[in-house]
Amino acid sequence: MANALYIPELLADVPRDAWPRHVAIIMDGNGRWAGARGLPRIEGHRRGADAVRHVTEECSRLGLAQLTLFAFSSENWRRPPDEIAFLMDLYRRYLVKERPTIMKNSLRFRTLGRRDGIPAGALAEVDRTIAASAANTGMTLCLAVNYGSRREIADAARRLAERARDGRLDPAAITEETLASALDTAGMPDPDLLIRTAGEMRLSNFLLWQMSYAEIWVTETLWPDITEQHLHEAIRDFARRERRFGGLGAPTNK
Ligand code: FPP
Repeated sequence: MANALYIPELLADVPRDAWPRHVAIIMDGNGRWAGARGLPRIEGHRRGADAVRHVTEECSRLGLAQLTLFAFSSENWRRPPDEIAFLMDLYRRYLVKERPTIMKNSLRFRTLGRRDGIPAGALAEVDRTIAASAANTGMTLCLAVNYGSRREIADAARRLAERARDGRLDPAAITEETLASALDTAGMPDPDLLIRTAGEMRLSNFLLWQMSYAEIWVTETLWPDITEQHLHEAIRDFARRERRFGGLGAPTNK
């Protein structure tokens, strides 16, 4: 599906090299979407999975390098057991249903987060999808499930400490790159753009290290209502921003 010639109307005058390469999304508002319609929360998640499908297809069509979606946080285990069970089964069913599309669009499937607590049936589909898509050459689709950024950083610190204890790593040689290579995201580019739906202005323990310089775009729209148009608006807004990474940006005459 990655097609160099696909440029939606809203992005027609935005130079392609100003588009983000890696977009990360906090998909929020499924519960509110359902509540507003007098439906159970799980209906919001079901519709949320449809939105995942549309947004993934559009990101792939736009030729982005990576899309990372926050599907279940390490804090989401505090939800009612029946909601958790539904979300885990939705994850499994999503992978079974979407695998042919993932392959058709040559997406590489990856995950972030710990495996413990995730039902065996879902993990089997995860492993199957990762293996089947490993040699694909299109966009990387990365789902963060049972993921928490602080825990990820603590896990990385522990791994480095163990290597140092065993004499395999000189503590004085630890750099930002050393730590980055011990994170779940080792080898992935950092997100350029974070999209958050449902209006909340927080990072919610998502990719804290990796998003040090990400641009943030928040919409009041609830995740199940998200459309391709919102994605185009976010990319358009991103392209207008001057990313200075702590420097002074483009030289001026001042
Ligand atoms: C946040 O909405 C959403 C989640 C915690 C789950 C995200 C899951 C999906 C988008 C669907 C399934 C995804 C896949 C990949 C199959 P919320 O429940 O916190 O909404 P609220 O803040 O309005 O209550």
